[in-house]
Amino acid sequence: MTQFHTYEVLVIGAGGAGLMAALNAAQTAKTAVLSKLHPLRSHTGAAQGGIGAALGNLEEDHWEWHAYDTIKGSDYLGDQDAIEFMCAEAVQAVYDLEHFGLPFSRTTDGRIAQRPFGGHTNNVTGKPVRRSCYAADRTGHMILQTLYQQCVRHQTEFYNEFEVLDLLIEGGRAAGAVAVELATGELHVFRAAAVILATGGHGRMWEITSNAYAYTGDGVAVAVRRGLPAEDLEFFQFHPTGIYKLGILITEAVRGEGGVLINGKGERFMPHYAPRIKDLASRDVVSRSMYLEMRAGHGIQGERYLYLDVRPETVNRYAAEDGRTRPDGSPYRVTADEILAKIPDIADFCRTYLGVDPVLQPIPVQPTAHYAMGGIPTNVYGQVLQNAAGDVLPGLYAVGECACVSVHGANRLGTNSLVDLIVFGKHAGRHAAQAAKGSDLPPLPADAEGFARQQIEQLRIGSGKETVAALGKELRALMFDAVGVFRTQDSLDYAVEKIGELRQRYRQVRVQDPGRIFNQEMLTAWELGNLLDLALLTARAAAARTESRGAHAREDYPRRDDAAWLRHSLAWLEGDAVRLDYKPVTITRYPPKERTY
Ligand code: FUM
Repeated sequence: MTQFHTYEVLVIGAGGAGLMAALNAAQTAKTAVLSKLHPLRSHTGAAQGGIGAALGNLEEDHWEWHAYDTIKGSDYLGDQDAIEFMCAEAVQAVYDLEHFGLPFSRTTDGRIAQRPFGGHTNNVTGKPVRRSCYAADRTGHMILQTLYQQCVRHQTEFYNEFEVLDLLIEGGRAAGAVAVELATGELHVFRAAAVILATGGHGRMWEITSNAYAYTGDGVAVAVRRGLPAEDLEFFQFHPTGIYKLGILITEAVRGEGGVLINGKGERFMPHYAPRIKDLASRDVVSRSMYLEMRAGHGIQGERYLYLDVRPETVNRYAAEDGRTRPDGSPYRVTADEILAKIPDIADFCRTYLGVDPVLQPIPVQPTAHYAMGGIPTNVYGQVLQNAAGDVLPGLYAVGECACVSVHGANRLGTNSLVDLIVFGKHAGRHAAQAAKGSDLPPLPADAEGFARQQIEQLRIGSGKETVAALGKELRALMFDAVGVFRTQDSLDYAVEKIGELRQRYRQVRVQDPGRIFNQEMLTAWELGNLLDLALLTARAAAARTESRGAHAREDYPRRDDAAWLRHSLAWLEGDAVRLDYKPVTITRYPPKERTY
């Protein structure tokens, strides 16, 4: 039996973006959050090294420097008005978190501690600046804890372990969503005047990824199936330091604290690629440099991995070579205990998954699929845009990794995902609550749960020969090889063709468990459908973009081409075909320049 619920604001997803949106909406509007996980298990918890904001607690900094670094990091594809908005607001956003009770690490005089991170610089010297505000290496985890407590305090209603299956649009505006309750298999229709998608990313389509199993692009997939475009999906970030073969994230804060990348010849190689900022260059630059080293046969023992070395003797040696100092001007020197206090969880990961003690041995790492710069197009209030002209779909919002504002452009700077979800979560929550208060509840479409039911029943009764495990494995290997750090026309055209075949074969998927109670197999099958749809859009948009920019590195088009490609892509899924359109990038005061680090 389908159950029906009515709210003014419905938030889908309970990571940092969803919780921040819900907290702000719940101040004035009747708000519910539905999430396929318990909120405290959301992937924001995997964000380790910090949230960027120009507090200037340890040295000179300005939000304008943060904005310029973000624009440069984005390889000039980020919309500069949105980036300026985000970086200016980031400072207050961090203080908001502090006042909500977030236990930040502290300086000796009690202020929020800050550390260097990739691509964040003093704009005068070009040297790394301490901008990342952190809670040891558990910053995202602490954000989740803090925001969840605040949401509970403000009487937000939670539907935990409810998975969204469809978005309802009626009369040209959002009307709600349909979800399945994992415990019972029952469908629930949520009617709402405003719907906020905050479902996170889709990194599970790559073989080596830092992303949680839950990151299957559910929000973007339900939106594109309802005729909305996805923006800039060709830009997907590979974080330089995933644990070799497992992909689990080793935070960039390890390099912020002085760790360096070492090749199989025992050399620190990043100064060859980024002479000024070295191991703290932006992620696209570092990941590509690592691939080039491995390709040249300089992997560790010739294999496809490198070392991240944070042993105190290594850190102290290179800090001296770089002339790195402490805030008081004395030479930067660390002990093993100091390192362990800054990265306690990373030390545990290394011991658990690798049997490596990071203050005694170097850590084997490889680039790992990490973050979707693209997603559902929005403005700075989170309102979803339907087309290149920027027309808003009333009542529909998207925030966090599933959205594309666009503040990350072609490559996101580390720490800016947390800034994004706090700043835009807040504004989307407030805007949605205000809009919901000022409008009638939209009518539900006829047979509101029909499309969701049809998708689930098709999987339940499927009698084909294909299995989710086999198709998923093929997709992940294909994406890693053909739509990975380096791409070519051949690899991308091949990927488009193969993904098309996988989507055909997906129609023959057979789920062995026909039950309704906690049927994870069926939901995994549904999620694979999401990944396949988004993989097709990603590969097609990448095949069309004949330039290299940020995380989109074309070996056959190695240069950035502003004349032809300084524009955002919009991709619509139309049956088995993809339609592409483009819209201009907003430039305020920073005309595109050659990037050097
Ligand atoms: O390296 C990290 O701690 C990841 C942070 C981020 O993706 O922003």
